[in-house]
Amino acid sequence: MKVTVVGAGAVGATCADNIARKELCSELVLLDIKEGVAEGKAIDMMQCATLLGFDTKIIGSTNDYTKTANSDVAVITSGLPRKPGMTREELIGINAGIVKGVAENILKYSPDAIIIIISNPMDTMTYLALQSTGLPKNRIIGMGGILDSSRFKYYLSTAIGCSPNDLQGFVVGGHGDTTMIPLTRLATYQGSPVSEYLDAEALKKVAADTMVGGATLTGLLGTSAWYAPGAAGAALVESIVRDEKKLFTCCVSVDGEYGQKDICIGVPVIIGRNGVEKILDFKLNEEEQAAFNKSADAVRNMNNVLATLSI
Ligand code: LAC
Repeated sequence: MKVTVVGAGAVGATCADNIARKELCSELVLLDIKEGVAEGKAIDMMQCATLLGFDTKIIGSTNDYTKTANSDVAVITSGLPRKPGMTREELIGINAGIVKGVAENILKYSPDAIIIIISNPMDTMTYLALQSTGLPKNRIIGMGGILDSSRFKYYLSTAIGCSPNDLQGFVVGGHGDTTMIPLTRLATYQGSPVSEYLDAEALKKVAADTMVGGATLTGLLGTSAWYAPGAAGAALVESIVRDEKKLFTCCVSVDGEYGQKDICIGVPVIIGRNGVEKILDFKLNEEEQAAFNKSADAVRNMNNVLATLSI
């Protein structure tokens, strides 16, 4: 297996680090446009091989896509991260052209690759990649809901005082501070509803904290988070290369599921060797469906901005 991570910033490098530690592939290429950065980080990571006991070979490259040839999976993290006070959506003007170019370059040398998009605004970048490459929809996966769901379980675990690993919970909808929908009604603590342990007010706070989870970290760090986003990207790579068929929320192209079409948005999906293998279209209640429709409208409005950009 061969995996490429484009963008050797904090998210891309952390994603690559997780991929190598888990030995998800025999060859891992880390590529960046900044001279020497990807090479430097790749060598630094390779010097962990004997300390951590992994055999994945990591190769750094300054914008030389020939090195990425025949990748099975490519993770795109390129573009600017957000600064404190910024929304993910404000990055569209800069990141759209970058993501489109990177996706084209990847496919030039790896025509069969499955592409994971992490760059923001992620829902619109996923839609753009799908439209511009014309790839079948199973091969373009946006990383958002898996990260937001992990943050949701973190906030639930601190409120309940339990291990996050004993919790199940999903965040669907867009990957934006106001567009994501933590499904508190369906979240469980080892099978029993979390509402058995938290009252409505506490659940509301968990949902609100989850929605601004990324913004809270951007405020603390001065830039976008990287540990959980990088790990989330690697978890998707793992489910693909090991054909795990795990159920995650990811941003994918919907065609009538949840009453929406012509849009990429976060829904529960099975991720396996073929990328998006199935969308689970389960019934939301009225309130959740209304929130989902509102979220879809916001994502669609952001997608419409693409037409105004010269990319
Ligand atoms: C975040 C970025 C990766 O949520 O969107 O941290």
